[in-house]
Amino acid sequence: MLLTLPRWFDLHTHFRQGPAMPAYVKAHRDMGCAGALAMPNTQPPVSYVSGAAQADGWSIESYSAELRAAGAEAFEQLIVPLYLTKHTTAAMIREGAASGLLRACKYYPPHGTTNSEHGVPMDGLIGGEVLKAMEECGVVLCIHGEQHALSGPDYIDAQQNAETRFYTDRMPRLIAAHPKLRIVCEHITTRTAAEFVAAAPDHVGATITPQHLLYTLGHLIQGLKYHLYCLPIVKFQDDRAALRKVVTAAGQTKFFAGTDSAPHTTKATACGCAAGCFTGGCAPQLYAMAFEEAGIDLGSKDGLALFERFLSLNGPAFYGFPASKETFQMEKAPSQTPLLETPAGPVTPLPAGMGLELTWRLV
Ligand code: NCD
Ligand code: DOR
Ligand code: ZN
Ligand code: ZN
Repeated sequence: MLLTLPRWFDLHTHFRQGPAMPAYVKAHRDMGCAGALAMPNTQPPVSYVSGAAQADGWSIESYSAELRAAGAEAFEQLIVPLYLTKHTTAAMIREGAASGLLRACKYYPPHGTTNSEHGVPMDGLIGGEVLKAMEECGVVLCIHGEQHALSGPDYIDAQQNAETRFYTDRMPRLIAAHPKLRIVCEHITTRTAAEFVAAAPDHVGATITPQHLLYTLGHLIQGLKYHLYCLPIVKFQDDRAALRKVVTAAGQTKFFAGTDSAPHTTKATACGCAAGCFTGGCAPQLYAMAFEEAGIDLGSKDGLALFERFLSLNGPAFYGFPASKETFQMEKAPSQTPLLETPAGPVTPLPAGMGLELTWRLV
């Protein structure tokens, strides 16, 4: 079986900074990726729109230039969201949108995840001037939708509840206060979030990673497969079933690819492990495997159309840029995912870390 698909867009990925960046960008280009939304949780974060990088933050302009020099020049689209911090102002949003540099902003719950300590709480943003300016200017809000209790019950309960709490409390209030704000609920993992987005207005969409469509907590814990450790953590079978259902619903326009590929050159440490699954080089294969596990026959016309929507079409339509006219191909055949060598050290892709042989191969 040979699939020919429009080149796709990874609408949530981490390219980092420094000497490994070209290897990460190349891994994406090599897997049929025509563009990306590159996350701003660098060190320091991307917290300005224009001008040179400063000691306390990159600008979208300077980080984009760095990415282009590292190979992203060849992309059809490169979106860098602005990291929302306590220094973000409505004037920055308006000027940034007018200049064309600012297309999206990223909300991080403070202390929710890697390099998220610069984030500001959602409660302070709702109803405020920054979100009003984004709403007026059509700037997309990318959301890491978790609300962490400061002292939770046990870790798994806390992880499960953080996303559920966000989608049952914060999201309804956010949408009510900003009815025209375009929102991408990123890397959703729970039934609560999947059903929330499916029922929300058309300008609320979501990205889903390959690992959350394929795996559950059982896979992470059995054998302590730490390459599967990412945040939000993989959840339960009922959550995975809900994610699979929404991505494979006929004609769905809200759910699209965003891998959250998050390379770490030092994944394991002396006392634990960094959060993030690296899926550069293998994401379309993993997504195809997930669709098959969800019961979709990719050899059928309808099955392929569903997959194409999720991978290549819905994301561009949501962000308002054209789908790619170029194509790439995948063949149903076993393949391996080697370590990625970078000047900062090797990175283990998720399948190698799971001892998983892919059942698809890029042509
Ligand atoms: C953050 C994000 O969304 O960019 N969360 C995530 O990737 N799962 C990234 C981060 O916190 O490093
Ligand atoms: O698993 C994750 N890795 N989750 C995040 O939130 C951040 C990301 C990273 O940057 O490593
Ligand atoms: Zn996130
Ligand atoms: Zn991420």
